[in-house]
Amino acid sequence: MIKEQKDFHKSRRKEFSQLIGKDSIAVIFGNTHYSKSYDDAYKFKQYKNFFYLTGFIEPNASLIIAPSGVTDSSSDSKKSLEEILFVQKRDSTLETWNGKRLGNDNVKKELGIENGKENTELKKFLTRKILTGLRRLYVNFAEMIKVSGEMKEIVTEFIDRLNIIASGVEIIDASYILGKMRSVKGAYEVNLIKKACEISIKSYIETMKMIKPGLMEYQVQANLEYHYKFNGSIQNAYEPIVAGGENACILHYENNDQVLKSEELLLIDSGAEYDYYNSDITRTFPVSGKFSLEQKTIYEIVLKANKECINKIKPGTRYSSLRDTSDKILADGLNKAGLLKNKKEIKKFSLHGVGHHIGLDTHDAVTSSKTFSEDNDVLKTGNVLTIEPGLYFPAGSKDIPQKFWGIGIRIEDDILVTKEGSENLTSALVKDVKGIEELMKS
Ligand code: GLY
Ligand code: MN
Ligand code: MN
Repeated sequence: MIKEQKDFHKSRRKEFSQLIGKDSIAVIFGNTHYSKSYDDAYKFKQYKNFFYLTGFIEPNASLIIAPSGVTDSSSDSKKSLEEILFVQKRDSTLETWNGKRLGNDNVKKELGIENGKENTELKKFLTRKILTGLRRLYVNFAEMIKVSGEMKEIVTEFIDRLNIIASGVEIIDASYILGKMRSVKGAYEVNLIKKACEISIKSYIETMKMIKPGLMEYQVQANLEYHYKFNGSIQNAYEPIVAGGENACILHYENNDQVLKSEELLLIDSGAEYDYYNSDITRTFPVSGKFSLEQKTIYEIVLKANKECINKIKPGTRYSSLRDTSDKILADGLNKAGLLKNKKEIKKFSLHGVGHHIGLDTHDAVTSSKTFSEDNDVLKTGNVLTIEPGLYFPAGSKDIPQKFWGIGIRIEDDILVTKEGSENLTSALVKDVKGIEELMKS
């Protein structure tokens, strides 16, 4: 692992440790393999909270953070440890079949985590002994309960123990603190998100240039994914949505198995991932390369909402106010076009929120709501969020003339909140009508 990455994850552990405070221990579980069918497993993906604190991408690992230290009863020195990473045991046969393992001896050197142990030792550390005298125990519950495979037995025992200790110790889900931390990106993370965006933009441009009637949606997807991989993105951020015509009105459409028709629009919602960091872009454009009058009318309304929301982003802006801005512009636009009498009914056609934080997760696990003690709705420098207004008119849309049926439009950009205001990380991808038509001609 390069020094910059090591330093980043170390800084995250340090901040997390300070936030949970003395008399606390955190046990953060990593992910395991999941079965797809028979002996075939899904490609491994690390839990993002665990990754944030470690950068470690092997399965069956877990991390203990103990700001006041825990005694290592297995060593003669009875050392007090503040961070321990538990990893898979080295195993030459399994490594021949499935790939190299780091091993506990290399944890400190490779990851910069003070102590490395084999995961079989975790059981000892989760005994009543280390939990005695504790005030607070932090666990990534939602992730922990899904853990299977070789960690299953340890997790099951741990859950039983939680039952016993719960009367004396506050047991807290670590996701809230980690979500808050993850919402403010450091320079190291911003660079990775920028790289993911750059790869996506390049791939979108190449793909938009090859669109023509008769292609299958999955052929468009293939082209996009070829460029992602070729340019350094090993995995997509999420399953691409390549939706011709009315398929765009299914918000998470991912069958991508229909033919593109010349009179229709094509909506692509996709993003490359780079080193675990995501991008998330949507562009909508005519299959023929030229917008019809109806398509253009709706497109310009969505584009206006996209641009005005982006213009409002700066530290201090309320995320919830962007939703209101978007709905207002969409409602006014449709009203002016004679397509919406009662502006309060805009949700019938705008269907979803205006965006979300993005980072290690595409819908980043970030606290943005108001709680009794905190107001996380206010944007801060270092937040990265999407702005993605949309309008959708599937066939049969009530009170909408038939010539608008089948139009589904979303325009999505990724925005970094900066000290001065904001930076649109996906601005290099054309989105105005003229620019799109010119690109598709080239
Ligand atoms: N691709 C999912 C989203 O845009 O939120
Ligand atoms: Mn998207
Ligand atoms: Mn999105």
